[in-house]
Amino acid sequence: MTGDVTTCPGDALVVNLFEGVGAGIKKQAGRARSRGGMPLRGATAAVDAALGGAIGRLVRAGEATGKWGEQTLIHSLGRLPVERVLVMGLGKAEEFTLDRVRAVAAEAARALRRVGARRVATIVHGAGAGGLHPAQATQALVEGTLLGLYRFTRYKPNHDDAKAIERLTIVERDRQRAKAMTEAVRRGRILAEAANAARDLVNEPGNTLTPTELARRARLLAREARVRCEVLGPAALRRLGAGGLLGVARGSQEPPRLIILSYRGRRGGPHLGLVGKGITFDSGGISIKPAEHMEAMKGDMAGAAAVIAAICAIARLGLPLRVTAVVPATENLPSGSALKPGDILHAMSGTTIEVINTDAEGRLVLADALTYARRLGVSHLVDAATLTGACVVALGTLNSGAFTNDQAWLETVLAAGRAAGEKIWPMPMDPEYDELIKSDIAEIKNTGGRKGGAVTAAKFLQRFVGAIPWVHLDIAGTSEADKEKGYQPKGATGVMARTFTALAMEMLAKK
Ligand code: BES
Ligand code: MN
Ligand code: ZN
Repeated sequence: MTGDVTTCPGDALVVNLFEGVGAGIKKQAGRARSRGGMPLRGATAAVDAALGGAIGRLVRAGEATGKWGEQTLIHSLGRLPVERVLVMGLGKAEEFTLDRVRAVAAEAARALRRVGARRVATIVHGAGAGGLHPAQATQALVEGTLLGLYRFTRYKPNHDDAKAIERLTIVERDRQRAKAMTEAVRRGRILAEAANAARDLVNEPGNTLTPTELARRARLLAREARVRCEVLGPAALRRLGAGGLLGVARGSQEPPRLIILSYRGRRGGPHLGLVGKGITFDSGGISIKPAEHMEAMKGDMAGAAAVIAAICAIARLGLPLRVTAVVPATENLPSGSALKPGDILHAMSGTTIEVINTDAEGRLVLADALTYARRLGVSHLVDAATLTGACVVALGTLNSGAFTNDQAWLETVLAAGRAAGEKIWPMPMDPEYDELIKSDIAEIKNTGGRKGGAVTAAKFLQRFVGAIPWVHLDIAGTSEADKEKGYQPKGATGVMARTFTALAMEMLAKK
């Protein structure tokens, strides 16, 4: 809404404080005045005045410092239309970023949900003194709020629905600015909803989210976004000679699916190809995994979730480019008909592959999906896959690993990651690593040993992309969070759903 924060209705109002601001304030005729430190400014000053100087008093007492992560909840006791005011500490002004806007919005929204607030009003953090672009800050605010409020409650029948935020009102005094914010709100919502849709898919267990169900869910999401969806089953896959995907699927009772989503925002121009690993459960197959943490392997389709969500978000934004998403979906299970170590597979490309370890199944299914995407004529390729434990060892859970055959395209992907606040770290791809996946009896083998495991996996994928600019993102460490942090609740992160959407925007901005 456009107007004055002090007249805004609702259960709670969020304002903020940078570190150091308001320090040394002396109360003078009911107004906060500076004495050495910076005075309270903007909306926070206006709210402080309406509260009879309550915020300034807390600052002077050293109770509210504006430190990053600080939350001060003040009851308005009838002095404002809202019941409570939440003052969020923004930290040092020079350290404030768009990603901090997301985090602070998320923390504020969750704190207010906890106390039962339903209608929340907020100012846009960082758009005033923070010096951030008002529309970008607004987008980040909406994104952070929706990302931070996400929960997966489908299997919690007694879950407390009573506590939910129903409405977020963004207050802006300037009419011109408020207008520009409307489009930013839409963007923020589409991006956050994309990540949350991906999170829903990743959190869903393997018994409900089979390859067939993943295809059905992709179709539903595609229909809402007006994206075309085609799903291929075993018969079509046999005709295509998709030996990688069919090979991995052999151990499972569930039929494999190749899911193809396509969006034409424009005729001609760049054609972005998105490929996502869709293993709906990875037991390791005959090379079976240890029992400990095996349940986490229901999330081995996080790459698939990201690309499905991203193409739908790109379509909802109406971005003028062509995008195709390809998802190879199957389970990886042991059985009497399962793939065995030593088996030879013929990939869709014709490449022969010796299977050394059936737990290196991701690269087998991705080989066919990359070949398929290439045949559809994509001009740029990016894939996301929970591909290797080795990548988690190398980078931990903070950064996704990036592997490329084209430095310029990598830079574009890195820029998209920065815009989304999703960290990506480039990894080496020297040709010498190719030695490690040479097979004695086939063209390549599906593991290169423990050393450099994330790189040799990427090297394997590279065999199927030809000369198309390509970036592979290993998200094994980043697809799930083991604890809540900022706008990331515990559980699935939806990583790369927003980065891939931002990537489409980057491609358009480049030309
Ligand atoms: N899905 C796993 C990788 C993974 C590990 C994802 C941890 C998320 C968290 C993948 O299919 C796998 O099993 N990779 C093997 C490859 C090895 C056999 C060459 C691995 O990383 O151990
Ligand atoms: Mn595996
Ligand atoms: Zn896997």
